[in-house]
Amino acid sequence: MRRFSLAILFLAAVVSLGLLPAAAQDDPGVVNVYSSRHYGDLEGPFEAFTQATGIEVRVSAGTPQDLLTRLRADLQRGNRSIADVFLAIDAGVLSLAASEDLLVPITSDVLNANIAEEYRDPEGRWYGLSIRTRNVIYNPDNVTEAELAGLNTYADLASPEWQGRLCMRPASHIYTVSLFSSLLHHLGEEAPAVAEGIAGNVSRYINSDTSLIQAVAAGECDVTVTNHYYLGRLINGSAEDQAVAERVAIRWMNQESTGAFININGAGIIRNAANYDNALRFIEFLSLTENQCGSPTCFPGSNYEYPTNPAGELNETTASFGEVVFDTSYPLWEYGALQQPAIDMLMAAGFGFVEN
Ligand SMILES: [Fe+2]
Repeated sequence: MRRFSLAILFLAAVVSLGLLPAAAQDDPGVVNVYSSRHYGDLEGPFEAFTQATGIEVRVSAGTPQDLLTRLRADLQRGNRSIADVFLAIDAGVLSLAASEDLLVPITSDVLNANIAEEYRDPEGRWYGLSIRTRNVIYNPDNVTEAELAGLNTYADLASPEWQGRLCMRPASHIYTVSLFSSLLHHLGEEAPAVAEGIAGNVSRYINSDTSLIQAVAAGECDVTVTNHYYLGRLINGSAEDQAVAERVAIRWMNQESTGAFININGAGIIRNAANYDNALRFIEFLSLTENQCGSPTCFPGSNYEYPTNPAGELNETTASFGEVVFDTSYPLWEYGALQQPAIDMLMAAGFGFVEN
């Protein structure tokens, strides 16, 4: 509603300055977005876009898989979606959408200049706008220095010492699927045994990264794996959230080998988009150096994520987590192809698909 009001205010101001004829033929229009972002401050960068361009941003929210299903149905039924932009929190879902020709190749010098190559589709069908990592969160009161020294890779979570001490997100969630697809990519035929070992150590499946961190803080589990920004949100949350954050620590995985697993928040333009020009302007706007900053008005900063624009500025809380090496050896555009094999592997490993 607030976005809508801003667009109206902008238009009212333009009209009152006599810049527009009564027919408002220069109405900047709208951009319709299918978005799987689910974080409160997202409106910051969207509002900034509306203020800068007058273009109204209309969002339909859902999980990445549900929105992909909707997109397929839209384009099968009428050859046009109600949405112009597909904004997804998972590179696998973006690459599936691209491979099914639901997204069109974009030719944009702005995007190619702003977004580093490893964070965009080689064919220009989607561009990463922020980066998240999925790493170990542990309780320093319950994990010894020696145990910690032996916890350096995701595969180390299969070690017997974590038996009954590990909480994980169920395999029904895309975060788990994508992480385990990286094990398949890197470990090949050794991956199923690792998945089985990890599944055997899990004491509880919890379908919320925030609740996983809370469980570790409360001593219910000693170790878990979550996206890094959930810790950022707790650090900047209520006094109660901050107390939870103080009881846990983050540990980057695979720092001596392939780097920490990453995913992106990325966007593409949907085939036959009714508002193509606005969609392009929207994605380009979010890629600009000034909009890749660490503050809540910027796309990465609004969720404690890392910028995909190398000139972007890091959020203060995110910077406080320390240096991290990202895994860019598992190309983001290959996540889609390994999604189903990862689900099959998790099923065979006896990994939980629901909370318990
Ligand atoms: Fe998330």
